[in-house]
Amino acid sequence: MKDKIEALRSKFSSELKTVADLSSLEELRQTFMSKKGAIQDLMKELGKIPNDQKKDAGQMINSFKQEVNEHFEARKKELEELALKALLDHTESYDDSMPTGNPCGSYHPITLIQRELEDIFESMGFDVEDYNEIVDDYNCFEALNIPKFHPARDMQDTYYLTTPNQLLKSHTSAAQNTIMRKYGDKLKKYGRPIRAVFPGRCFRNEAIDACHENTFFQMEGVMIDKDISISNLIYFMKTMLSEVFERDVTVRLRPGFFPFVEPGFELDIQCLICGGDGCPSCKNSGWLELCPCGMIHPNVLKHGGINSEEDPFEYTGFAFGLGLTRLAMMKYGVGDIRVFNDGDLSALSQFVSR
Ligand code: DAH
Repeated sequence: MKDKIEALRSKFSSELKTVADLSSLEELRQTFMSKKGAIQDLMKELGKIPNDQKKDAGQMINSFKQEVNEHFEARKKELEELALKALLDHTESYDDSMPTGNPCGSYHPITLIQRELEDIFESMGFDVEDYNEIVDDYNCFEALNIPKFHPARDMQDTYYLTTPNQLLKSHTSAAQNTIMRKYGDKLKKYGRPIRAVFPGRCFRNEAIDACHENTFFQMEGVMIDKDISISNLIYFMKTMLSEVFERDVTVRLRPGFFPFVEPGFELDIQCLICGGDGCPSCKNSGWLELCPCGMIHPNVLKHGGINSEEDPFEYTGFAFGLGLTRLAMMKYGVGDIRVFNDGDLSALSQFVSR
């Protein structure tokens, strides 16, 4: 038994030296430690040797097993550290000899439409802001005039984190309060109007189908100043949409309910395919619903620190929540919303910027 263990010990230590990665280490471990491994074979032989030698032989096997285990763990730790170091040093690189369909890569259609809109709004004097995906209840609902337990909360169900009061934002409107607080001082001190757009990923607890996703993109916009009216809203929306669709668009407003605007609207554009006569894409109505919007509710402006109790209408503003994903579907003629999230490059790499 002693000789057998000795032979295995030198076999193990010479093989261990050649092991250079975690998977070959695991193979080596299996050769020795698995149910069909060398140590188990020794255990089987234990049955065959005379009783008075069993105790010593058993102890030898056990201490050999322990030794193998210790060496194995130590080498494993070493290899893991090396792998991490290689990753951090970037010595591990991707294989750039792999053939690809599109050698230049391509932007995601949502990125394309988002950048296009950012350019358009920047040219009209808007700041572009980024905002968190994890928000609190106050920013997502209460600051937007949607108190706790108000029935309007049923309009948007989202995902709640186990951390109390934290959730995935269900709409980009969740950034309105932060924007008002960020730019409010400049508005009041220097009369600089607040003009900002803030694109972002939103989440809702939705059953997924061709028209619904639990993860989608919006672009929110606000403009706040003295004497802002619905005509300003219409002007900016119409200009922006004419740029996006590269032609003059006709828009109309219908009443729409959103607790954070008063009055609230649904903005429609005249169908670009039939010019308003009615066709299958506009369900024969001649109009396409595009962008909910409205005049910012006085309570929202108050929460944002814009207006005081004494003069609740000193400043007024409009807000809109453009569905970027929906706009991308319309602009690129994508019939199924799932295309945007399922990572199929043959579909996604077809979109190239102008
Ligand atoms: N946040 C709303 C939603 O996701 C959309 C919206 C409606 C945004 C009206 C607005 C607005 O800024 O004025 O359903």
